[in-house]
Amino acid sequence: MALILEKSSRFLLKKIKDLRFLTQKRNRVKEKWAVTRVKYPPSKLALQHFDATYGAQLGQLWPSVRVALLSERKYGALLNNFCHDAAVAEYQTQGCKDFISDGAQEAAQPPAEQKPEVGTTEEFSDDSLQEGACLDNQQQVPLKLSPNIKCFVFPRGDVTRFKPARPDRFGLLGYYLMDAASVLPCLALDVQEGHTLLDLCAAPGGKTLALLQTQMIRFLCLNDDSVSRTLRLKKVLGSYVPREFLTDDRLRITSFDGTKWGEIERNTFDRVLVDVPCTTDRHSLMEDDNNIFSKSRTGERRMLPQLQLELLLAGIEAACPGGEILYSTCTLSLHQNLSVVEQAVHVAQEKLGIQLQVVNLRPLTQMFRNTFHFAPNLRLGEMVIPHLAANFGPIYLCKLRRLT
Ligand SMILES: C[S@@+](CC[C@H](N)C(=O)[O-])C[C@H]1O[C@@H](n2cnc3c(N)ncnc32)[C@H](O)[C@@H]1O
Repeated sequence: MALILEKSSRFLLKKIKDLRFLTQKRNRVKEKWAVTRVKYPPSKLALQHFDATYGAQLGQLWPSVRVALLSERKYGALLNNFCHDAAVAEYQTQGCKDFISDGAQEAAQPPAEQKPEVGTTEEFSDDSLQEGACLDNQQQVPLKLSPNIKCFVFPRGDVTRFKPARPDRFGLLGYYLMDAASVLPCLALDVQEGHTLLDLCAAPGGKTLALLQTQMIRFLCLNDDSVSRTLRLKKVLGSYVPREFLTDDRLRITSFDGTKWGEIERNTFDRVLVDVPCTTDRHSLMEDDNNIFSKSRTGERRMLPQLQLELLLAGIEAACPGGEILYSTCTLSLHQNLSVVEQAVHVAQEKLGIQLQVVNLRPLTQMFRNTFHFAPNLRLGEMVIPHLAANFGPIYLCKLRRLT
């Protein structure tokens, strides 16, 4: 009897232990799920949003743009003319080419008969992208490219990565890695000798560096309302530009709210770059940190077109009559691109009394059609769309000229 009792109490104890273990285990799993696994991470929300909006906007083209957006992006190496390390020969032996001088040379050749490119007009479904309902006063002007801006890329389909840049004996780095399509707004801005220039949203400074390569700017004003990003901008400048180019008579760096610029300085600059905050489509699909699609930033995301409009209007006011303004984003969104420009042109005329002309950038897309995939027949501005063989962009750019 005693033996039976002992056995059954041991059995009961084991059962209780098992139960405790099971409970603990279940709790542990529950905790882990609750703390670390978000059901809809921001990158997933971004993809859902893009599938709904870009699916309709880009039609048959969306699946291939989607694959490209979800794949590793391609970089370009913006050559730093201030660096004394002769890196050009090294790039060329690696099979890279400067897409800017290549495009300019091709454009100088007599025109051959052209077939339509794969992935262009026929595949765009959305009427708003194709119809000729553009602002009437678009003007086509010959494109003058600065010979000093050089950006190396690996050939189409080649996804080799660049090595990190090396410093020269003065500590300046030989090149800056960036989306090669980001150089296009700087080329389109057409900086000329002695120009004054405002970069309204400048940090971390990739486009500023490209503009500085021209060595034609008399006075450069760099602004970004984020103090931490302005510090990054200063660090980038310190790593790429000699100190003698960063003196107060040549350069001013500020951290103002750019939307208020018109209240500070009007009718001043020959050129204004308005590279606005946007949904940064690639980043939003790939990174959950600092993602504009996170639930807590929904309000901020919805307000983006309004912020972009205010920044563009401030940039328009800051330009001098006859001056030129370049609006750019890194999103495919029509609401953040064409709609913002259309509204800005309207408001500038109606409320600020400023007449604007849209500058036709088709010569630019013609010149670089072998390096980038451009959205065909956008009724306003130009857009680089990602493609697996040339995985740059998205970059939207639109140029305005102040007539009054
Ligand atoms: C697309 S990024 C600019 C990238 C930069 N042009 C480059 O090439 O490296 C947009 C920038 O706008 C800044 N920004 C956001 N709101 C702003 C505002 N109200 N005024 C000025 N800058 C603003 C952000 O801090 C961010 O650095």
